[in-house]
Amino acid sequence: MKRIFSGVQPTGNLHLGNYLGAIRNFVRLQSDFDCIFCVVDLHALTLWQEPEELRRHTREVTAAFLAAGVDPKSNIIFNQSQVRAHAELAWIFNCVARIGWLNRMTQFKEKAGKNRENASAGLYVYPNLMAADILAYKATHVPVGDDQRQHLELCRDIAQKFNHDYGVDFFPIIEPQILGSATRVMSLRDGSRKMSKSEASDMSRINMTDGADEIARKLRKATTDPDLLPGPEVLGEDGALPEETRRARPEAYNLLGIYAALADEDWTAVLTRFEGKGFGDFKKALVELAVAKVGPIGDEMKRLTADTGAVDAVLREGAERARAISEPILQECQDIVGLLRP
Ligand code: AMP
Ligand code: TRP
Repeated sequence: MKRIFSGVQPTGNLHLGNYLGAIRNFVRLQSDFDCIFCVVDLHALTLWQEPEELRRHTREVTAAFLAAGVDPKSNIIFNQSQVRAHAELAWIFNCVARIGWLNRMTQFKEKAGKNRENASAGLYVYPNLMAADILAYKATHVPVGDDQRQHLELCRDIAQKFNHDYGVDFFPIIEPQILGSATRVMSLRDGSRKMSKSEASDMSRINMTDGADEIARKLRKATTDPDLLPGPEVLGEDGALPEETRRARPEAYNLLGIYAALADEDWTAVLTRFEGKGFGDFKKALVELAVAKVGPIGDEMKRLTADTGAVDAVLREGAERARAISEPILQECQDIVGLLRP
């Protein structure tokens, strides 16, 4: 059976990258798969969070799932800390994963920065907790943005080593689902940096709760280059955008990729439409599209976030259903490794 698991951290400033790289794909996958979507509050703790803000952001991410169209009845939506299997399985995986593996994680290096000695131990073992999230449900498919590729590779390594060391065929080897034309949305100010929740300048990202005026202002000010827009001849034979082409004009292709994803069109269609146009015309069309697609989701998020009772009820019910799946898997795993359950 195919089962989907994915998580989003409640760290504030949910942005267009989160939507196009992850949440929108959740909505598309929900009709074909058994899906579990998690607000990963334990992961958020790896960097400092104000307690009241963490609670607010946990509800906000839940509201974003709902506003984007994830159905809480046919899928499971819950927050990680309410299901014990995550933290308990993560401990077992801390003892399976090797320090050498974790030392290769580029996200740790980015997030820890120069002062690595001062990073939390949680930030270091973060990928082990992520593997536990997925494998506590024996999920097989994991939709994420491109930046999570390495973490998912580690999840496969952990499952493989566990199965090998204990001589079992217990944990599945997952398949990453990195889908769509905007798997890596870049900053609006600097095409070499990823759009990110933690970037100091709010002008670098479109937040899911931004109003029409903010969306328009940010896109109008987005960095571009002096050339006209290219036509479909820049694409490879497979219709994809070659990496070296993207690298030559990162800001232009970032905006075009955002357009393609929001319009649900492929590269050929978008490049044909805007071939030879200047950024002025293109940005006008992009603003209109972004306001039409993001605006209603942001409005619904704000409405839901104010209704804490309804959001909390979704999380409570989701956690109960998540426990029913993960508890027997955790117990069987404990039996495999020899933890006595008297
Ligand atoms: P996070 O906010 O780190 O919890 O990320 C939640 C989801 O959004 C993950 O699947 C990420 O891979 C995805 N994501 C985050 N930033 C971007 C981005 N700039 N472009 C595409 N996907 C992203
Ligand atoms: N690490 C992911 C991110 O920052 C969030 C996450 C936590 C996750 N656990 C997960 C994603 C399990 C997919 C599956 O984006």
